[in-house]
Amino acid sequence: MEEWFHALGNSVDTIILADWLSARLDRTAAEPMYRQVLELMQQAILTGQLAPGTKLPSSRTLAIDLGIARNTVLHVYDQLTAEGYVNSTTGSGTYVADTAPRDGAAKKAKAGETKAPCTISRRGARLIAQAGVSPKQWGAFMPGVPDVAEFPARTWSRLQARLWKRASPDLLTYAPGGGYRPLRRALSDYLRVARSVKCQPDQIIITTGIHQSIDLAVRLLADFGDRAWVEDPCYWGARSVLQSSGLTLVPIPVDEEGLNPAARDMIEPPRIALVTPSHQYPLGMVMSLARRRALLEFARQHKVWIIEDDYDSEFRYGSRPLSSLQGLDDAGQVIYVGSLGKMLYPGLRMGYMVVPEELVDTFRIGVAELYREGQLMQQAVLTEFILDGHLTSHVRRMRGLYGERRELLINAIRARFGDTLAVRGDEAGLHFVLELPQFVDDRAVAADALAAGVVTRPLVNYFMNRDEALRGLMLGYACVPNDQIAPHFATLADVMEQTIPLVVSA
Ligand SMILES: Cc1ncc(COP(=O)(O)O)c(C=O)c1O
Repeated sequence: MEEWFHALGNSVDTIILADWLSARLDRTAAEPMYRQVLELMQQAILTGQLAPGTKLPSSRTLAIDLGIARNTVLHVYDQLTAEGYVNSTTGSGTYVADTAPRDGAAKKAKAGETKAPCTISRRGARLIAQAGVSPKQWGAFMPGVPDVAEFPARTWSRLQARLWKRASPDLLTYAPGGGYRPLRRALSDYLRVARSVKCQPDQIIITTGIHQSIDLAVRLLADFGDRAWVEDPCYWGARSVLQSSGLTLVPIPVDEEGLNPAARDMIEPPRIALVTPSHQYPLGMVMSLARRRALLEFARQHKVWIIEDDYDSEFRYGSRPLSSLQGLDDAGQVIYVGSLGKMLYPGLRMGYMVVPEELVDTFRIGVAELYREGQLMQQAVLTEFILDGHLTSHVRRMRGLYGERRELLINAIRARFGDTLAVRGDEAGLHFVLELPQFVDDRAVAADALAAGVVTRPLVNYFMNRDEALRGLMLGYACVPNDQIAPHFATLADVMEQTIPLVVSA
């Protein structure tokens, strides 16, 4: 058959083409005949079975031989013409077009003469090599994930259904730069009260989350090669965004008072400083007031942009959430970024940033220009959710639940290991750190735990300066149902006892 297609040279025998097509058509399939014939003809042309220059049978003849409507064949020919597979000349007929690559590259590749070079960029290669993202995003003891099963889905879907009934074009088109205005108003009220953030609705920019907020801030405020201070250790995602934007990262150690730059770090001020003052990620300390003031003063003097990542401050156990760094900033140097991912559910992909007044237009235009935002319907649902009081009550309820889970996990640790292993950073958030002795390879422990079905993150992975890295396991408790905490910890503890010789049960 294939030889026959070629052998005919200038025109194809209608019967043979019709037989070839018929053998492949599924006349009982749901897929329309037009689509099936079109795809088969395209395939025959791309593989060279129908060679360039071949004259196709008339639509009437092919339709008769295939036993299908002539209109169907006409549609197929029209589509083939529109997509460049064939050329039609009125009165003369329809000919297969020459679609082979012009530069002979295909022939060379076929002959093995050239092999496409791997064109990944250096920053792309570094991003992939240092990737921190886990293949598993749910289950015991995944850090940073709230209990999505507790999300008030019925309330959300009720609000959503109500809004869809009166969906107007301005909710279904692209978002105006900055996002849905009523949401920006609701969030500014919320942030003023809950986080002592000083802002007007205009200063709020809705994004798809903290990753995007940092990306946007860096693109608008820093240039390739600029220096960025990052806490060491820090969140791998923030590090990846900064690094792949071409910034030079300067790891700054943290101590019990938070970011602790040495005198030599100050000599060459960075363009950007990314900090987690309310709950250092991943170790959990709070930046002291003295350090906050020192950082703000340094930023004011040297025109450093501070990005305040306030990712999970709503969940503070035993005391009220702490005030933001932004609330202390009188010089307009702080870009505050937050997320609804931890309060509601991560897959919502919604976050916000609060930018200094003088940058409002820059960010509104920037966000629209770079990401062409949408999701106004979701934003409208969220607005109603907030205004009806559901956000506050859900966060309050989750704070109680996560507090219980945190305690259950600490109790399980104490019951098994007594006080041999310290717990760090458990006053707030969705995770804490279980410290391990310095000689322990925490990556190996985490790998063995994963093989046993328990997710943990090795602390060493969060450090840029690996010589100074503490060893430990990040344990997220928020997404684990109360009754599963002890059994899962028992599995993890068994792994730990096997891999860490000196860790013995209490
Ligand atoms: C410190 C920190 N910042 C930001 C994020 C991500 O936020 P988002 O999901 O809004 O991009 C995380 C997620 O775990 C985090 O731990």
